[in-house]
Amino acid sequence: MSSAVASQNENNWFETDAQFHNLYPLSIRLLAVRHWTPLHVTQRVVQYLTPVGNENILDIGSGVGKFCMAAANSAPSAFFFGVEQRNDLVKHADAASKALGLSNIRFIHGNFTQLDFKLFDHFYFYNSFYENLIDTDKIDDRIDYSVELYNYYNRQLYNKLKEMPSGTRVVTFHSLGEEIPSDYHLVEAQMNDLLKFWIKK
Ligand SMILES: C[S@@+](CC[C@H](N)C(=O)[O-])C[C@H]1O[C@@H](n2cnc3c(N)ncnc32)[C@H](O)[C@@H]1O
Repeated sequence: MSSAVASQNENNWFETDAQFHNLYPLSIRLLAVRHWTPLHVTQRVVQYLTPVGNENILDIGSGVGKFCMAAANSAPSAFFFGVEQRNDLVKHADAASKALGLSNIRFIHGNFTQLDFKLFDHFYFYNSFYENLIDTDKIDDRIDYSVELYNYYNRQLYNKLKEMPSGTRVVTFHSLGEEIPSDYHLVEAQMNDLLKFWIKK
């Protein structure tokens, strides 16, 4: 996507999911229904994660950056970070965010286990580890998947969230909640419990 094309249509990108997905090549668009957060979900999440407006938010497993970009567009005074293990997805995210001209966003290539969570205020998590449990609809076959990895990542995330201060907010989407420590209070659940809003006591 060239920035000329992006700016030509800049007012339309966030209108519908289909419109937004045009920022990406077909191979990425085909993964969207299963793997990238719908725009209407991001609108609910971003309000909760930015109660003041200038927070640093981390998307744990940011894929091609769809959540971060829709959130950054909605909350221009907050800053959105995404950590993603697949370098090709980070490149798609960087290209799309450049085309949109968003400056309150940064994508980090790496494993979330390597990040210091204390650098961030609040967190978004779209059940990123689930791909270790399923046989179909995987993003690709280029990484190792296993139940052991699923359990390891859940434990790591649990420990990192446990160390965060009181008032830390987390939103989970399609999560079983195994990664949420017991001192996080469930504030609200929406969409038949698929979307959950948590805060640390
Ligand atoms: C369901 S997608 C969600 C993408 C993005 N959060 C969104 O909603 O648009 C989950 C992403 O998490 C990434 N992921 C899974 N395990 C990870 C890990 N341990 N560290 C970093 N990224 C990871 C996957 O590669 C995938 O791109």
